[in-house]
Amino acid sequence: MGFPVVRPRRLRRTPQLRRLVAETSLDPGDFIYPLFVVPGSGVKEEIPSMPGNYHWSADLVVEEAAAAWQEGIPAVLLFGIPEYKDAQGSAGWREDGPVQRAIRALKRAVPELVVMTDVCLCDYTDHGHCGVVKGQEILNDPTLDLLARIALSHAEAGADVVAPSDMMDGRVAAIRQRLDEHGFTHVAIMSYAAKYASAMYGPFREAAQSAPQFGDRRSYQMDPPNSDEALREIELDLEEGADIVMVKPALAYLDVIARAKEAFGVPLAAYNVSGEFSMVKAAARLGWLDERRTALEILLGIKRAGADMIITYFARDAARWLKEGL
Ligand code: PBG
Ligand code: ZN
Repeated sequence: MGFPVVRPRRLRRTPQLRRLVAETSLDPGDFIYPLFVVPGSGVKEEIPSMPGNYHWSADLVVEEAAAAWQEGIPAVLLFGIPEYKDAQGSAGWREDGPVQRAIRALKRAVPELVVMTDVCLCDYTDHGHCGVVKGQEILNDPTLDLLARIALSHAEAGADVVAPSDMMDGRVAAIRQRLDEHGFTHVAIMSYAAKYASAMYGPFREAAQSAPQFGDRRSYQMDPPNSDEALREIELDLEEGADIVMVKPALAYLDVIARAKEAFGVPLAAYNVSGEFSMVKAAARLGWLDERRTALEILLGIKRAGADMIITYFARDAARWLKEGL
């Protein structure tokens, strides 16, 4: 049976009918809000390449996170910009590092907020790579202990979830073991399982001052043509004990999100990365796109593809837009 009896337009006639038949919905409860924390106090400095995002000191990030929490956002993801950088990234596991201080401040002020932390070396190394460097090479196994140290220091400060973003092989197992040995069996791991070597991290690297000083990240991050390999990466991380797995970036990898959800049916995060955010911001500033409609359409698309949660710099704006209704 078809036209003229069947008319799909009947159910698109009014907003109420459209709402009834909507297959996917967005909710602030889906969002994870990334925040950049720096040393000191009283700091709130806008990141030029990411309008509306700031470098926060631990005291002020509490106000921002509390506001997000009030708007229904359940989680934040912290990135740290340290006081100093060295070859090992040793500022990454300092008890008084910006991330560790921010975790404690957040847990004190907003105890129910889920505090997630990015675990990697690139924010803390002078060479800007995500692993230990020898000559031109990024070493895998010697990196694992350093990542585990960072993760442990975040757990000790009170993090609920640690999120390794380095793409070294075996890091989920190394972190799980270190956390368990120290009694942090309740701390979850969200692994950046299928993280691609993408041009879309540009604005973030400016924000984190973490661009590699030589070469690129293609020997450890995934090659964009591959999606079977993404499933393999996710499978390995699950075997090693990952609680949540992530696909990153989101937009050019919606097929990977869909395949991952279909194949594993485990909690799946997608990272709507800095470049994806800044493209919309830039086009909106030029008057070429409607920011609100574009951002919500993108977030909905990521959700429809199969993501259970979305890490997005639009989190607060989107929460507000959803509340206002379209
Ligand atoms: C660090 C890290 C990066 C991002 C998250 N964690 C940058 C990179 O791998 O170069 C990117 C986030 C974004 O672009 O929003 N490993
Ligand atoms: Zn890194």
